[in-house]
Amino acid sequence: MKNKRILTGDRPTGKMHIGHYFGSLKNRVKMQEEYETYIEIADVQALTDNFNNPEKVRKNIKEIALDYLSVGINPEKATIFIQSMIPEIAELTVFYSNLVTIARLERNPTVKTEIAQKKELFGESVTYGFLGYPVSQAADITAFKGELVPAGEDQMPLIEQCREIVRKFNSIYGEILKEPEIVLSETKRIKGLDGNEKMGKSLGNAIYLSDSPEEITKKVMGAVTDPNRIKKDDLGNPDICMVAYYHNLFTSKEECKAVCEECKAGKRGCVACKKQLAQNIIDTLEPIREKRTYYEERPELVDKILIEGTNKARQIAKETMEEVKKAMKLDYFKEQ
Ligand code: TRP
Repeated sequence: MKNKRILTGDRPTGKMHIGHYFGSLKNRVKMQEEYETYIEIADVQALTDNFNNPEKVRKNIKEIALDYLSVGINPEKATIFIQSMIPEIAELTVFYSNLVTIARLERNPTVKTEIAQKKELFGESVTYGFLGYPVSQAADITAFKGELVPAGEDQMPLIEQCREIVRKFNSIYGEILKEPEIVLSETKRIKGLDGNEKMGKSLGNAIYLSDSPEEITKKVMGAVTDPNRIKKDDLGNPDICMVAYYHNLFTSKEECKAVCEECKAGKRGCVACKKQLAQNIIDTLEPIREKRTYYEERPELVDKILIEGTNKARQIAKETMEEVKKAMKLDYFKEQ
């Protein structure tokens, strides 16, 4: 019997990059050994800000599944499922929506930031669905009685809101739901190759888990280094160099030290330094790429993993739904 149950997930809106790897995937691979793990591909949530682009969400279901499997999420240990195929989540969302005020949703810092970033999509007024996605995320977690949610810092306000919903539900209808706890990764957000605080598709500064060695090399060669260092023998400052920043993630401690010392002494050129980094990234991602190829060549196996995972997850959601309906006095026509 594994002890606690994990529930986590991602919006299928793009391929995953090394920021996701260090920020969450690596941690999940570790945690699946110890906990009963459920991972949701949150297509319904993805539609809240991509309702006008259903093709994008559909296409990325497979990409995310391949990303999961390639990094070592093991379908024997972790259950991967698709949100829209579990109608109980949608049903719970409706019930929970009575337990949350609009003002509270508008105050959610994550929602607030995202709305500000999506002015182009939402114009003057945000949709009901987007404003309410924390309610739907609370349903994602509680449908499975998730106790631990490994996620990034940006998810904290969503988990807090989920906990409030759980407390409110339990205080009115009885102790049915579990209050989840967030589990933050050791590595916080990874900066982009251009030095931007965030790595992301729209910023064009990301290395994807599926990138080929050629793509990785090309991207690393374009990374931002110390702008004051023009010639090789200029003394470099690794503290403001993205190549040094990435060496810290992909290069051994001793090698890192040597790289930085030679850079500071003007003894190591940026080109050599970048080539070495590119090679280290390529080597680190090699087993991930290999696993990806294995699954890419077996699309029917990936389908099977998703179908079986979703069936298993749905069973649990159905059980929760029964308890919830009973507690809410919605269990009509049941024998006593
Ligand atoms: N909101 C999460 C993100 O944008 C995705 C997500 C959906 C999620 N449902 C979840 C994360 C449940 C943790 C638990 O990355």
